[in-house]
Amino acid sequence: MRSIINEKNLNNKKILLRLDLNVPFKKDKITDTTRIDKILPTLNFLIKEKAKIIILSHVGRPKGKVVKELSLEPIREELQKKLNKKVKLISENVKEIKSKNFLNNYSEDILILENIRFYPEEEKNDNKFAEILSNLGDIYVNEAFSCSHRAHASINKVPKFLPSFSGLQLDLEVNSLNKIISEITRPITCIIGGSKISTKINVIKNLIPKFDNIIIAGGMANNFIEYFGNSVGKSIKEKNCDKIIEEIISLSKKEKCKIIYPEDVVVSKDLNGPPQKKQLSEILSDEMILDIGPKTIENISKIIDNSKTILWNGPAGYFENPIFSYGSIQIAKKIIENNKANKIFSVVGGGDTVSLINNLKAVNEFNFVSTAGGAFLEYLEGKNLPGITALN
Ligand code: 3PG
Repeated sequence: MRSIINEKNLNNKKILLRLDLNVPFKKDKITDTTRIDKILPTLNFLIKEKAKIIILSHVGRPKGKVVKELSLEPIREELQKKLNKKVKLISENVKEIKSKNFLNNYSEDILILENIRFYPEEEKNDNKFAEILSNLGDIYVNEAFSCSHRAHASINKVPKFLPSFSGLQLDLEVNSLNKIISEITRPITCIIGGSKISTKINVIKNLIPKFDNIIIAGGMANNFIEYFGNSVGKSIKEKNCDKIIEEIISLSKKEKCKIIYPEDVVVSKDLNGPPQKKQLSEILSDEMILDIGPKTIENISKIIDNSKTILWNGPAGYFENPIFSYGSIQIAKKIIENNKANKIFSVVGGGDTVSLINNLKAVNEFNFVSTAGGAFLEYLEGKNLPGITALN
């Protein structure tokens, strides 16, 4: 993997820069800019080198269709503010661009293509589409570690067509995770939450042999709660998970890794509340699980106290609404307390988790904070990430 930071002669070169600008939004407002802040050094380096920057990114999951609410326009505005430089959003359909020099029509040094997932070819990892994208630049840079577990065209295929490099934040993430993997001390506890169940549930199986405790919270916990015979009402959950849960349980016994899922919860009929504490047997069909309950918090706290390493990815509930953020905040506070006392080594990852600890102004209270969620877990799993493999 060659880092862009070591490259000379970037003057006037067109750099196709893949970023992960998939930041959290509330209505039209960005609620956490960490992913933007972290890539500013690479952007400033390219600006200093007088390169022409063409940004590729996605936001959300538009599933190959133009979804107005998932435009990159608010992100363009934020980038322009942070860089104090004009940034132009290119809304033209890239598949209809005929001339290789089309982008020369724009005088701005920083261009940003509209949400790359508006094209179905992106997630299909389409070769032709990757070639079309690569025709827009001279050099490709992957500065999106948090997307590097996706075999998508702008991550995995474009590097086939252009000289390709890693960005500064990607270097930092990979080097830090390598160091963590090689120096990790037991007992190791991994807390996995969040709402992206399908990405994470398959990862768990491969993490079992490496960890002593896996705490399952957030959306994925609902599948476990249901598997053990409780109703989860209208909570989010993944379909057809029984087989994978069975495998997780049987492997965890063999490997002596404890799987912990919530023993009590906080529910509501509505995302706006009111919240109500409940035992698992009491959940009604019109209720949603939106946070972990007090007994679960106590149990997780004890496990953290008895661990030497904590890896945390994904909040324990619907933290976007403060009335359901209590469980996630208690986990954060417990990790911070042990970290301050030098009793644990702590690593936190994922856009939502970073947003949560940012709200607590606690980013510096952990040993390492990764912007990546799914990619972070898959890297810990020991998987080759399609975005990293492509750079090598
Ligand atoms: C993330 O937020 O983890 C990345 O942007 C990847 O998003 P995805 O899970 O929708 O592929």
